[in-house]
Amino acid sequence: MADFITLSRHILQRARQHREATGDFTILLSHIATATKVVSRQVSRAGLINVLGKTGETNVQGEEVQKLDVIANDMLIGLLDDLPMVAALASEEEDDFLPTRAGRLNGRYLVCFDPLDGSTNIDVNVTIGTIFSIFRRPEVGREARLQDFLQPGSALVAAGYAVYGSSTMFVYTTGQAVDGFTLDPGVGEYLLSHPDMRLPDRAKCISANVSNRALWSPGTRAFVDLVTDHAEPRYKKTTTRYIGSLVADFHRNLIYGGVFLYPADSASPNGKLRLLYEAQPLAMIIEAAGGAASDGRRRILDLVPDGLHTRVPLIIGGKADVERFEACEVEHGGT
Ligand code: AHG
Ligand code: MN
Ligand code: MN
Repeated sequence: MADFITLSRHILQRARQHREATGDFTILLSHIATATKVVSRQVSRAGLINVLGKTGETNVQGEEVQKLDVIANDMLIGLLDDLPMVAALASEEEDDFLPTRAGRLNGRYLVCFDPLDGSTNIDVNVTIGTIFSIFRRPEVGREARLQDFLQPGSALVAAGYAVYGSSTMFVYTTGQAVDGFTLDPGVGEYLLSHPDMRLPDRAKCISANVSNRALWSPGTRAFVDLVTDHAEPRYKKTTTRYIGSLVADFHRNLIYGGVFLYPADSASPNGKLRLLYEAQPLAMIIEAAGGAASDGRRRILDLVPDGLHTRVPLIIGGKADVERFEACEVEHGGT
């Protein structure tokens, strides 16, 4: 543990180095981190406190809502609703955005989140996480509008995630560097454990749900074949790893090097993942770590969502691998 640098101390130091040099921004990030600590505690006791299973409801995405989805969502909303610097929130679990109680008129920031990513893994004790992003809003002094949220990822002020795995980690960027913290449950603090995370330039892992293979474009199939054929030097030792929690697959690939893909397919021409809650924040992180993110043709951070729940194909990881995917789509045909 490098000098016991706590997350709060680190956020303060980073904030001083760049234009969000305000106490407001620091308080906001610290509150998001606190919410993830509470979720982490609930996740770790899930089997004991009767929070496993489904609520019986279906969310705006048409997916079954798990009890922990609701707990994580309520926790984030509850903590952020009280912050005067936050104007409004957008959550994967909510149909519409929510103006906050304290900052709806004058808050400068908008916060988007996927409160619990990897819901299908909750009941089987497999790693899940929380993903978030922060935008500045174009105008203060009025209530937020839908349009305020529809910004390209390149406008993000910060993005990050918590991953509830063998330990709980919090990873975030404000654009320059990516830093990772591990929760010390005894101290109750996130401590800097992975300073300046850089994506290794090697393709150790490829992550895709291959059960969709028959629905993939010829280009996507060609890419996955060329990686798993191991003929090219870069892909000689590449191995397949797919957890089914984007945040966990992403985190592993960020540390080992590799590429994750949830491409377009003939059943889902826009893929499955959400631009606002999943693709934009992880794209900001991967670029800050030296990698790339694409929808198969275009840089994710250049795309503007047309709604809060817009879906997008996502190919994210090493630059060389993402470029190779794009080239395969051009050469063999996309969806
Ligand atoms: P969420 O749990 O937030 O709805 O997200 C689930 C996503 C993502 O975490 C994962 O990569 C993907 O769904 C897995 O989908 P498949 O089961 O279709 O592979
Ligand atoms: Mn998700
Ligand atoms: Mn989710």
